[in-house]
Amino acid sequence: MKFNIALLAGDGIGPEVIDQAVKVSDAVAEKFGHEITWKPALTGAAAIDAVGEPYPDETHDICVASDAVLFGAIGHPRFDNDPSAKVRPEQGLLKMRKKLGLFANVRPTFTFPSLLDKSPLKKERIEGTDLVFLRELTGGIYFGEKGRRDDRETAYDNCVYTREEVQRLAKKGFELAMTRSKKLCCVDKANVLETSRLWRETVQAMEKDYPEVEVSYEFVDAVAMRLVQWPNSYDVLITENLFGDILTDEASVISGSMGLMPSASLGSNIGLFEPIHGSYPQAAGKNIANPMATVLSAAMMFENFGLADEGKAIRDVVNKALNEGIVTEDLSDGGKAYGTNEVGDWLAKNI
Ligand code: IPM
Ligand code: MN
Repeated sequence: MKFNIALLAGDGIGPEVIDQAVKVSDAVAEKFGHEITWKPALTGAAAIDAVGEPYPDETHDICVASDAVLFGAIGHPRFDNDPSAKVRPEQGLLKMRKKLGLFANVRPTFTFPSLLDKSPLKKERIEGTDLVFLRELTGGIYFGEKGRRDDRETAYDNCVYTREEVQRLAKKGFELAMTRSKKLCCVDKANVLETSRLWRETVQAMEKDYPEVEVSYEFVDAVAMRLVQWPNSYDVLITENLFGDILTDEASVISGSMGLMPSASLGSNIGLFEPIHGSYPQAAGKNIANPMATVLSAAMMFENFGLADEGKAIRDVVNKALNEGIVTEDLSDGGKAYGTNEVGDWLAKNI
């Protein structure tokens, strides 16, 4: 098959980890007889510097004309400490999600047998963890009306959901649960929030269409707790935008490093694939960032094209590298640490 893939490296360690995913994807394409044409485009602080906008129209056009988007990271510290900045790199990501219709953010958390000791949680607590969050990505408090009252001393961010937004996300959750252990957890705060009550009511009404799926409803605070107590008791979790943002960062460390977990953002026919971690500016340009999350995001991209063997080839080679200690310094425990590039080269060679 032939693919055009938009390549949005972004900021910080983004370009370095993206390079490795490109190498590995090209190796997979060669092995399985595909042809990938990469279409680089600007985003984030890099795009603000170049054209004054974090998600320029030209970048959007390139994404729309592609079969998928592979994304690195965005964010720069000079914006984080300046609350008055009008143009921010993160706005690029939000605009892109909205304009590409990427309402479902798939964020898995799984463990690697060779890394169980690297987790901040006890081995017996995390063994067998294999869960997936479906985070709603284009609604809720992120996109509701926000602003200041006239006195400037009062600020607001509205959280708004429509039944249709909940339904389309929940549908993906039910469908995913059907392909896995048929357990679905709806995470909300229905004891306090009206939007959560709409979520719960909507999901409850959908249960009859999926009689085999066992649905539980849990409050977000309780889920935050159980995630570190018994992460392996969860399978598929669906939740709104902000809860999903927070819980998926919490869950991402279970595997041992934030640099390991991939994600997919789906909704229209163009999926976006990106590591869960951010731009990690302290490590930028040092060849120390862990490329595995981005490489595994490329695996999710192939799988989303329906190419399961290609995805598996990537997952297998990542496992092999971890088993053989081909790791960056976040996982080396003071032992031999490989550079970002060297890990990427090793993976591409061993595909
Ligand atoms: C994420 C990030 C983004 C979010 C930021 C960078 C806007 O934290 O993808 O989880 O909050 O969604
Ligand atoms: Mn986040």
